[in-house]
Amino acid sequence: MPLLRFTPDQLLTTTRAVRKRLDLDRPVEPSVIEECLQIAIQAPTGSNLQRWHFVVVTDQVKRLAIAELYRKSWAMYLSSPTAAPNLRYDDAVRDAVQRRVGDSAQYLADHLERVPVFLIPCFTGRVDGQPSSAQAGKWGSILPAVWSFMLAARARGLGTAWTTLHLRHEREAAAILGIPYEQFTQAALIPVAYALGTEFKPAHREPLASIVHWDKW
Ligand SMILES: Cc1cc2nc3c(=O)[nH]c(=O)nc-3n(C[C@H](O)[C@H](O)[C@H](O)COP(=O)(O)O)c2cc1C
Repeated sequence: MPLLRFTPDQLLTTTRAVRKRLDLDRPVEPSVIEECLQIAIQAPTGSNLQRWHFVVVTDQVKRLAIAELYRKSWAMYLSSPTAAPNLRYDDAVRDAVQRRVGDSAQYLADHLERVPVFLIPCFTGRVDGQPSSAQAGKWGSILPAVWSFMLAARARGLGTAWTTLHLRHEREAAAILGIPYEQFTQAALIPVAYALGTEFKPAHREPLASIVHWDKW
């Protein structure tokens, strides 16, 4: 698969959450997913244990079943006044961005089963109820790989979005996919499709000065 031409900084600053610009009608070749996964597994893991698994879901019936779990969770999320799409900001730019994110997230929820590939990264073991110090090693041993996958996908013209909403129903998703729930934790659900167009821009972010602390908080 030929790569799009980006500098490293362009790739890192333009890998967006793609939802409305996913090509729902174009199949994604298994080989391109495997290329991205080969890159993903170069990521670091605690003690180099590499206790990760990647479930690639293409089966239409399974995608629909998981999309239904996702939508159940989305509806519950939206019913909370503190859900991101329900928040208002005084800053007009931030407010407009949040409105767009809400619309885009609604679109993904409405069309999820039509996205040709779901990637569900998993790590070995469960962290439910463990102290954050123990959880950090587990989560930190899967998240870099997933982000690498998303960057590799972007470099190949694919769009992805990090999602976690289906995890509210993780046990049911595990049953659909045959994942042994007691032994493996699902970390996310990454919808993957060819992107409609290759041009994406850096996003609005809060100024660094408000979040960076040199030597003291
Ligand atoms: C931990 C995490 C969980 C997320 N969960 C969801 C989700 O369930 N559904 C969704 O549409 N987007 C989800 N997102 C994507 C964010 O909404 C997205 O990063 C945000 O809209 C900013 O867009 P950008 O990454 O293009 O700047 C999640 C992102 C992260 C990092």
